[in-house]
This record gives sequence, C-alpha cells and structure tokens, in this order.
Amino acid sequence: MAISRIQHEGLRQRLMSAEAAAALIPPGAHVGMSGFTGAGYPKAVPQALAARIAAAHARGQDFRIGLWTGASTAPELDGALAKVNAVELRMPYQSDPTGRARINAGEMEYTDIHLSHVAQYVWFGFFGKLDVAVVEVAGILPDGRLIPSTSVGNNKTWLDQADKIILEVNGRMPEGLAGMHDIYYGTALPPERLPIPMTQADQRIGEPYLRCDPAKVIAVVETAQGDRNSKFAEPDAVSAAIAGHLIEFLQHEVKRGRLSPRLLPLQSGVGNIANAVLAGLNNGPFEQLQAYTEVLQDGMLDMLASGKLSHASATALSLSPEAWERFERDIDFYRERVVLRPQEISNHPELIRRLGLIAMNAMIECDLYGNVNSTHVMGSSIMNGIGGSGDFARNAYLSIFMTPSTAKGGKISCLVPMASHVDHTEHDVQIIVTEQGLADLRGLSPKERAALLIERCAHPDYRDALRDYFERARRGAPGQHTPHLLEEALSWHTRYLRQGDMRAAT
Ligand code: COA
Repeated sequence: MAISRIQHEGLRQRLMSAEAAAALIPPGAHVGMSGFTGAGYPKAVPQALAARIAAAHARGQDFRIGLWTGASTAPELDGALAKVNAVELRMPYQSDPTGRARINAGEMEYTDIHLSHVAQYVWFGFFGKLDVAVVEVAGILPDGRLIPSTSVGNNKTWLDQADKIILEVNGRMPEGLAGMHDIYYGTALPPERLPIPMTQADQRIGEPYLRCDPAKVIAVVETAQGDRNSKFAEPDAVSAAIAGHLIEFLQHEVKRGRLSPRLLPLQSGVGNIANAVLAGLNNGPFEQLQAYTEVLQDGMLDMLASGKLSHASATALSLSPEAWERFERDIDFYRERVVLRPQEISNHPELIRRLGLIAMNAMIECDLYGNVNSTHVMGSSIMNGIGGSGDFARNAYLSIFMTPSTAKGGKISCLVPMASHVDHTEHDVQIIVTEQGLADLRGLSPKERAALLIERCAHPDYRDALRDYFERARRGAPGQHTPHLLEEALSWHTRYLRQGDMRAAT
C-alpha cells in the first residue's frame, strides 16, 4: 500500500501490526469501532483481538470487551468476536448470526438503541467511558485529519470521546472518497443546543474530514481489503407486488395533490424488499427524486445512475460487489451526488421532521391495530435490532412498513391479533403494505384500522381467523376502543412455538 496514505509524520511512526495494536486493548475495555452495515469497519484489528481473546480464554483468563459500533458490521468484526465469546455487551445494532445466537442464548448482553441516540448517549456518559476507538479510514492528512472510509456512523463521536485511538488505514478504499463526506461539528449538549442548519436533503453543513487528536493515536495499522456486502436477491413476485402497491399509492397521493411528482426525500431500509421498491421507483413515473436515508444500497445507486434520483444523503454505502465496481469506476459522478454524514445527522429527528421524509421500512409483524414489531421473533428472540427505523418512523411525513403477509413458508402470519413485541406503536405507523395490498391507516380509529388491515393485508389463509378473532373481541372484550381477548391474543405465537405453525389444526 502506498505510504502516502499516511501523510502525518508522527502517525507514520505509530505504524504497527494488527496483533501489536490489538495487544493495546485491555480486558473489560469499552471499544468503539467503525462500521455501518458491511461498510467502513476495521478489517484487521478485530480479528487479531479475537485471536488474542481466544488465547486468553484458553489459558483460563477472563477477557471480554464492550463493543460499540455504528450499526451492524461484517464477519471479520462481529462474527470473529462473537465466535470466541469476546463480547460482554454489544450496542447499538447487530445482525451477525453468531452474535444473534449468543444474545438469544443469554451469553451476550445487547442494548438495542435508536441509531440517532447513540452519539448523544455516549456524550451524556450514559454508557460509561469509551476507552478505545478502532476506526477505519481511507487516509491521514498531514495535519492529522482523517479521510473517512465508506461509512461515517459514530466515528466522529468515537474519535472525540475515546481515550485512545487505533486507526486502520485501508489502501483498498478509493482515494476518490475524499470530499464525499460531510462531518457536522455543531451539535452541542443541552441546554446549549442550536438548530441544525439544514433545510435541504442535499445540503452540506460540515467538513469533509474527521478531526482527530494525533496525541491520542496509539497505533496505525495498514490494510488493503474491500468491504464485505452481499448481493441482493432479484425481486421476486412477493417483493415486486409490495413495490407495485406502494408505487400505486404514491401516484395516488400525487393525483390528490398531497405530494408533488418529485415526492419528498426517500428513506429506505435495507433488504430485498426495500431494494425491490427502489427498482420499482427506478422504472416508475417519478422524476428528480432525492434520498435522505441511512444506507445507500444498490437500488439507489441504480436510480442515481439513471437520473431518477438527483441526490442521496446517507451515513454508509452498502453495495453488493457488482454495484461497488460501478461506484468505484464512476466515483467522480457519485461524489457530486452522494453525501455521507454522521448517523446522528442522517437519522436526526429534527431533520427528518423538517425535510418531511417518506420512510419505508421492513417489519417482522404487525397487529390488528397497527402496532409494529421490527425486532423480535415470538416475543423474546432478537432478530437484529430497531436500527434507524424508529428515528424515521416517528418523525417522517409518511411512515410506511412493509412485509410479506406470511413467513416460514406460510406457517407464520405477519398480521397477528396482538404483536408479540412492539417497536413502533400505532401512533407512529401510517401505511402497512404486504403483497396482498396496502392499508392506509391515517386518521382511522383502532377498529377501522383492524377491519382495513384484515381485508387489505392479511394472507387468505389467515383472513378468516383474523376476522373471527376481531368479531369475537368486539363482542366479548371488556373495552371496545381496542378490542382484545387477552387470553387468546398471543395464542397464535404460542401455537407456533408448540406445533411449528400458527394455523389451527383442522
Ligand atoms: N415471525 C418470525 N420470523 C419472521 C417473521 C415473523 N413474523 N417475519 C420475517 N421473519 C424472518 C424471516 O423468515 C427471515 O428469517 P430467515 O433469515 O431465517 O430466513 C428473517 O425474518 C428476515 O425476513 P425477510 O422477510 O427476509 O426480511 P428482511 O431481510 O427485510 O428483514 C427485518 C426484515 C424486519 C428483520 C429487518 O428489516 C430488520 O431488522 N429491521 C429492523 C431495522 C430496520 O428497520 N432498519 C432499517 C432502518 S433505516
């Protein structure tokens, strides 16, 4: 790797191996690592740390760390550390299968936090002291400022709050990333806070580089490895139907004069359904769209390339290998149209409310009254976490949740009498979409919402059972505002746990 990536003389003196750097992280440390989806995470130090911790465990030593990141990362970070049971407490979001198994087995503690809250909670001291930051960057400038990598996440906060800093300088990251980022340093603690000076989704309000005190840097490690992001599945019939309903709804809103043909800035969760919706928008009737979102994924890159999307703001790039190739090849084109911000800004409630976003997120299940569960399977097992969905759903102009109407080959209905866990209450949920149809819940009472959700969104296999529950609840519930039969409300979940199918045996 070209040594010129480390232009600060003093920091060049701190070059060392990943193993030597990992040896500087003490047992029990709170470690803030970069990374947001499979982007911009340190590639070498976490694996060296995992090896060190595994060796310590083999000697009978107690060695675990608290692991804080931007969001999910990749097998080289979350996977490697979870595998050797190196993490005592993880926050704020993770989707690694080994980590998930550890959390659900009670072997790893997990604090699932709105992504916009993390930075300020750390400044407030709610999680204790941050001991070490391990941050991947694309380069170090002569004055010590850092060229961020493919995600910004919480890096500004980690560099600011940590006692000690380890930098991974990744020579595989294109130099053309420089100038794509916008790091805002104006957030203060209450009561000194001022409005964030942003009124347009494509506005730049900060600096292109991360500030870093060279005196805190204890190690610099060179790497040369790309991010690891998986390819999205081609849209299938279910995700294409969801996308179709959603686009028809947006067209209807334009016809009614509630949205302009440019819509409003889009926020899109990650995953196959979200990607199918973006593919639908790319072929749809809307022009000159903008995105103010958390993660820029393949679908948005396609929309930028086609000109459907004029600009995208995010905190991370989450591109499949094929999309990454296109991004790297045309990086000058994308630098004009993409801005990467800290996640406290990409997900900031003040900005989401002001810009008036159209927020589109996936969910696990929702109940008859529109309460949405994004995080838990059968009430007690974590899937991933709330991520940014709460930041966006609570504050957007339109809050949309999408899911196939069933999961696990039809054995689970994603529309249930009562949600087994609630992340987004009925007050924050406006539109529900499944492949069966779309329910616009705006302005409806709970009973009106239930009737609409059953008819529009339920899978036919479950529709009669939902109607039956709702009708009996309307006759037998002690309260008629939100009718429930409490003894039966979670019986679909308990039946699934007992017999592997929510459908009653016939
Ligand atoms: N009950 C049990 N399991 C369910 C389920 C339900 N009602 N609905 C879905 N699942 C399972 C699926 O079977 C699948 O399991 P598998 O991995 O074993 O095959 C898994 O959940 C993922 O579902 P899928 O339909 O593939 O959707 P997805 O990849 O879009 O993920 C969420 C859906 C809700 C798990 C995911 O979007 C998420 O974690 N959301 C919360 C964070 C968020 O919204 N982030 C974006 C904000 S910016």
